Amino acid sequence: MKSIERVFLVGGAVRDLLMGRDPKDRDYVVVGETCESMLARGFSRVGEDFPVFLHPETGDEYALARTEVNVAEGYKGFTTRIEGVSLEQDLARRDLTINAMAMEGDRLIDPFDGRGDIEAGVLRHVGEAFGEDPVRVLRAARFAARYGFEVAPETTEMMRRMVERGDLDALTPERVCLEMIKVLGEDVPSRFFRALESVGALRVVFPELHGLVGVPQPVAEHPEGDAFEHSMLVLDQCALLSKDKETRFAALVHDLGKADTPADVLPEHPGHELAGVPRVEQMCARLKLPNTFLTAGRLACTYHTRIYRVREERDAGEVVAMMRKLKANHTLEHVERLAIVGEADAKGRGEASAQEYPQADLLLGLAREFARFDALPVVEQARERGEVAGPQIAQAVSQALCRHMSRYMQLE
Ligand code: CTP
Repeated sequence: MKSIERVFLVGGAVRDLLMGRDPKDRDYVVVGETCESMLARGFSRVGEDFPVFLHPETGDEYALARTEVNVAEGYKGFTTRIEGVSLEQDLARRDLTINAMAMEGDRLIDPFDGRGDIEAGVLRHVGEAFGEDPVRVLRAARFAARYGFEVAPETTEMMRRMVERGDLDALTPERVCLEMIKVLGEDVPSRFFRALESVGALRVVFPELHGLVGVPQPVAEHPEGDAFEHSMLVLDQCALLSKDKETRFAALVHDLGKADTPADVLPEHPGHELAGVPRVEQMCARLKLPNTFLTAGRLACTYHTRIYRVREERDAGEVVAMMRKLKANHTLEHVERLAIVGEADAKGRGEASAQEYPQADLLLGLAREFARFDALPVVEQARERGEVAGPQIAQAVSQALCRHMSRYMQLE
């Protein structure tokens, strides 16, 4: 294959290389070619709307340099131009300066001083084109989470304008979901939600979380501040304890019900556990999150306070009911996840944060004991007594299971 005249490594790969990170994938921009000449070279086209091709051997993405031309009102009114477009023009349509650099071999092409912004730890938009794509508001917040960079004041202003214009209403649930799931993989995911809140975007994109902003909590247990602040601290604590995204999501949403507490009972939150469940359901349905997230979120809302107080638990029947809901006889997955959310909940409280979390071992002990219970002898005894109806047998099993758990809990 005859080699292409001018190929530039672009975007995230250049940023990652300059930051000393391994690029996740490598995207290239090609100058001086056409769609036809790319196909003739054996590349296959992947982009429907954009001239993007896959290399026949490496599978890397090669895109023709392009710009977007405004043909109508609003951010959707754009069409792509490729004829005679230079690399610099292609870089100028990109979101942030740190993502608008290119490399030709070892030579860095950096017309917007992305390297300077990496060194200064700043996320700065390249130009007015930032406003053409509302996903960029989410991306800027996500990069803030990943790198701990500050968003430049002018970019914050631009993001705020986009929110005020209503641009974010056009974000698809799939896209928001994708960005959130990526964020849940970062070390300090709270920065994403805080960055969105600071430009007014949280209310639009994550109204359930925005509902926690300014909601007071009892100061002795929660010196950290409002329910949003607590949720952010719990999320970050959870990120220290587990890489599992469902677990981190569960930590994020465990207190959503606090948004619904009637004003006359504040700062207490009686019943916020169950109040959180429909909120989680609403959030998961809107964002079309996978069911594993829904289950994790629902369980976290329902049981987090019970787990927090598991040391004082005196009701074996309640423990049995909880372990059944957690399917502890089949899997420890839900119990282990809740133990981590519980630990994060106890440690995300500013000066009142727990240092130790004995509840986790206690909970896991209860789950193992529950799973160990063997119902078969109980069923046989019930049959010998002539109890053959399903409900009778089920009752005998439940009673025996409660006695079994009571003994373990030293209640008998
Ligand atoms: N880009 C953009 N605006 C978007 C999406 C992407 O300007 N809404 C540009 C940026 O130059 C970006 C490049 O396209 O660097 C590649 O995008 P993508 O692969 O989605 O993201 P990365 O920047 O590589 O980030 P990540 O590491 O999170 O994938």
